[in-house]
Amino acid sequence: MMMQTVQQQLQEKVNTALQSVLAGASSEVAADVLQVVPCANPQFGDYQFNGALPLAKAQRTNPRALAQNIVAQLDVAGISEPPEIAGPGFINFRLKREFIQRMAAQALADPRVGVPQTDHKRTVIVDYPSPNVAKSLHIGHIRTTFIGDAIARLLRFAGHTVISDNHIGDWGTGFGKVIIGWKKYRDEANFQRDPLDEMDRLYRLVEAESKQNKEIQEEARLETAKLQAGDPENRAIWQHLRAVSQVEFDRIYDLLDIHCDETLGESFYNDRLAGVVQDLLQRGIATESEGAIIIRFEEPANLGDKIMVIQKKDGASLYSTTDLATVQYRMERWQPDEIIYVVDARQSLHFQELFNVTHRWGFKDVILRHITFGTILGDDGKPIRSRSGEAIKLKDLMAEAERRALEIVRQKNPDLEAQKQQEIARVIGLGALKYADLAPSRTSDYIFSWDKSLALSGNSAVYLEYAYVRIRSIFRRAQAEGIAADVQQLETLHLEQPAELELAKFILRFPLAIETALSDYRLNAITDYLFELAQKFTAFYDACPVVKSEEPLRSSRLALCELTANVLKQGLNLLGIETIEKM
Ligand code: ARG
Repeated sequence: MMMQTVQQQLQEKVNTALQSVLAGASSEVAADVLQVVPCANPQFGDYQFNGALPLAKAQRTNPRALAQNIVAQLDVAGISEPPEIAGPGFINFRLKREFIQRMAAQALADPRVGVPQTDHKRTVIVDYPSPNVAKSLHIGHIRTTFIGDAIARLLRFAGHTVISDNHIGDWGTGFGKVIIGWKKYRDEANFQRDPLDEMDRLYRLVEAESKQNKEIQEEARLETAKLQAGDPENRAIWQHLRAVSQVEFDRIYDLLDIHCDETLGESFYNDRLAGVVQDLLQRGIATESEGAIIIRFEEPANLGDKIMVIQKKDGASLYSTTDLATVQYRMERWQPDEIIYVVDARQSLHFQELFNVTHRWGFKDVILRHITFGTILGDDGKPIRSRSGEAIKLKDLMAEAERRALEIVRQKNPDLEAQKQQEIARVIGLGALKYADLAPSRTSDYIFSWDKSLALSGNSAVYLEYAYVRIRSIFRRAQAEGIAADVQQLETLHLEQPAELELAKFILRFPLAIETALSDYRLNAITDYLFELAQKFTAFYDACPVVKSEEPLRSSRLALCELTANVLKQGLNLLGIETIEKM
């Protein structure tokens, strides 16, 4: 049997009470205002139901009287103290100690630490990290990579069917420039040493040249057109560079434990493009204009003066054409309920146009979402760059994170074998990078700081890893003292001190953090929660002796330790961050 959350249990009781109070009278009140929510202010209780107010308004009755009627019908004796009505008609619940104790024991026995699976199972495609090939991964790719991966993990954990699709850019005009560079300026030794670095160099060379010389631009266009038309030489170069890029990308994704289900990429849709253009023309959605095929927009207002080109005069297809073909393919193959594009905000116009056309094309039911994110800034408040002014390569950033983490590990634990230190540093360093990117509100810019990312205190992965390790060491100590620390089977906990009650209640709110994070794909709902959890754990651990206390408190407190560790581990894993047992 799957566990029901505290909120779900209260909600059921409220719904039953509402049924008898309203006695079938249809209320025009939206379901979301009839939800039991956590109390904003713990002074009033743990959870509250504010629905009496909108209901009374709809029925033109007195809200307080209605609240009284609801309370009279509420059968929550097994869950909370008698509900209290506050102000104009808020109904407040204070959870009973026995209830919390039992729920905590259940969560401990539950491999999902009390988080139920959704009963609205959906199929969701997550489009990320989708970099362009023949180019190094750099700091600009971090956000789509980490945010996209965490979203995919979160949805999967909630019970949805998730298809992560790395829509790599392997077909655009950028490739034309790399092909020119490859033919003219290739440095084979550098290519052997660091293939993506060489491709970056070639691209930059040709890009610079094309700024001076318009002919190069034309040449790049021709090379791209030749590639797309199937010219054997360009195809061979393209295939080679694409394959080599993929190997390099995979090396990084493996280290980051990021594995997409599909890597179809732009070129995969090549054969569909002509059909897509044809179909859109036939349906009257696209029209011909000066030899090109375009789509106009009548609404919304901000698209009114825009046009989306789906075929150039020379017959070449574009990013937009590929994206349309991609939607069509995804709809045919997976019938998704939702497609999420985790892409830089600079592409927001493209996605508005794409979504608009997709709906007009007849794919009306699918939810399409562009999940944007802010920019990573340097100390100076400007988009972060390396000292030489280029984008910082992701692999360099990862290496630096590991190097800095290793210093910390060596200081903390100088006697550990070097290999173990290295392994811990990898987890800590990469975890710190991911966490630093997920903890700020998704849509705001943030200033990247090594000190903050790797801080031992504050809202950082290191702090949480450390809290986790500390709990594991409590168990090692208990074991060393011959204490049976097998607490999985407890029927109930014994929560005596306020700090332990607080901690247990907060652990039972983990499902809510996940729900909040999923509601608008805001991962900081998870990081905020975990940070607060670690703080509440510290308060508990300061106030309540664990190993040194007597039964039944000792087992109960060990159980709280275990629960906290389980939630920390699960929460970090949802963010793509591993935990370690020792530090
Ligand atoms: N390759 C693109 C870029 O690097 C992002 C692709 C995003 N996904 C998509 N379906 N358009 O800018």
